[in-house]
Amino acid sequence: MAEHASIDRRRLLAWAGASAAGVWLPFAALGQARFRTDPFALGVASGSPLHDSVVLWTRLVGAATQSLGNDAIAVRWEVAHDEQFARIVQRGQAQALPELAHSVHVEVAGLEPDRWYFYRFMAGDATSAVGRTRTFPAPDALVQKLRLAYASCQRWEHGYFSAYRHMREENLDAVLFLGDYIYEYPGAVNAVRATPGGWTITLADYRDRYALHKSEPELQAMHAACPWIVTWDDHEVQNDYAALNPGSGGPDVPDFAARRTAAYQAFYEHMPVRASALTQAVRGLQAGAETRMYSRQRIGRLASLIVLDDRQYRDRHACTAGGKAGSGNVDPASCTLLNDPSRTLLGAAQERWLDASFASAGPGWTIVAQQTLFGQRNLTPGQGRSFWNDGWDGYPAARQRVTESLARHQVSDPVLLGGDMHENWVGHVKADYNKPESATLGVEFCGTSITSRSGGNKRMASWLAGNPHFVFGDSERKGYGVAEFTPKQMTATLRVVDDVTKRETRIETLARFAVEAGRPRVEAA
Ligand SMILES: [Fe+2]
Repeated sequence: MAEHASIDRRRLLAWAGASAAGVWLPFAALGQARFRTDPFALGVASGSPLHDSVVLWTRLVGAATQSLGNDAIAVRWEVAHDEQFARIVQRGQAQALPELAHSVHVEVAGLEPDRWYFYRFMAGDATSAVGRTRTFPAPDALVQKLRLAYASCQRWEHGYFSAYRHMREENLDAVLFLGDYIYEYPGAVNAVRATPGGWTITLADYRDRYALHKSEPELQAMHAACPWIVTWDDHEVQNDYAALNPGSGGPDVPDFAARRTAAYQAFYEHMPVRASALTQAVRGLQAGAETRMYSRQRIGRLASLIVLDDRQYRDRHACTAGGKAGSGNVDPASCTLLNDPSRTLLGAAQERWLDASFASAGPGWTIVAQQTLFGQRNLTPGQGRSFWNDGWDGYPAARQRVTESLARHQVSDPVLLGGDMHENWVGHVKADYNKPESATLGVEFCGTSITSRSGGNKRMASWLAGNPHFVFGDSERKGYGVAEFTPKQMTATLRVVDDVTKRETRIETLARFAVEAGRPRVEAA
């Protein structure tokens, strides 16, 4: 089985490399010139921007987003300064391979720093929608402003992706998507809309689920509006999975590694990420076929951006009741495993990489985009302690290593952004969460969901009182956050829609916070 998986993996890498580099493989036929339906029905996207390059994405589909068959299809692409494509910057040709669901990942290099571009794809007689993308400023550039949205958790059956219609008005440089782009579920109680298909298990299932999400016009339009930087959480594979340990929910799948590989491949096929995410897997073949999602880059002298992957390498959950797979609330007094220093959330290699990244983060804001709530959150203040073991609270020693690394390297202005909770949380990053008087090292903004449900605010006052490093929490409203960075301050604006069960819904600001550079203190703004 493992040997078979490795061969598939190697072939996948060859396809991804060939497709991204525009290398022509000896395919007999290169697709039809005429399409009966719009092959670009899933839209376009761009992502993983650097100061000189960006990834352009599309995936060609047939009627009802079904496969276009077994032939490769030649796809032309253009990048221009203007929306009319009168001033072409670069053009080229890529192959949409059936092995990668006719997805296209073009890594356009040699672009100018800090500049907006337009792009589109053409195949046969069809032309895609026009996308807008940008490069980041050069590493040594003085940058006056950076505007990022942070978003996560878009469960289809819980509502409409209307938040993205409002996000388009936010004048963003990029979107950080922090996980749960899809969910593996067949539906939900009181579903707002039906989910075609059942549990996602196979490659075909995951492809269909991504195609379903990409069919939402608001999501497509937001992808076309600016580049996205993405990481994943659990639901891109299965609820609460941990590395190669299955999570919980749904039918038993005998070969979880195969399920995860299928899910990772479908994620790659639908996201504007670099082929190197898969190429990294060459090194990982012996060690569990890694797909490299964590990354770092500078954004001028203004900021460093570090993106983490807290799913692929983590130890399994500690002390979940009944020894079951998946997460639960645990009492640290009766769970010695919880504090075992050998337990890891990021894996040893990513931890070392993060420590090195902190050591060389440089000046300005150090933005850490990760999946979940970082700060300690006791769920039963006044009645002992209880922690949810799926977030950083389930890996306190690993969290302590991160805060020690932040302190040791005197990392400049850390700003942690997160998701996963379906709740807004705003707070301070503490050197030791059990000692309120310990140093404050940075700030944290954990964002709400685009649609996914949460429990409500009944216990919020008690949670905030019992966890004073948090200054704000909300477990009702859905939407996204906008983080704006300037050399002097950062602001976080929590944007929320009225009702995710309606296609037409207003947006408003739930709360707004500011942090001055050099002073890790969240102030209402
Ligand atoms: Fe979620």
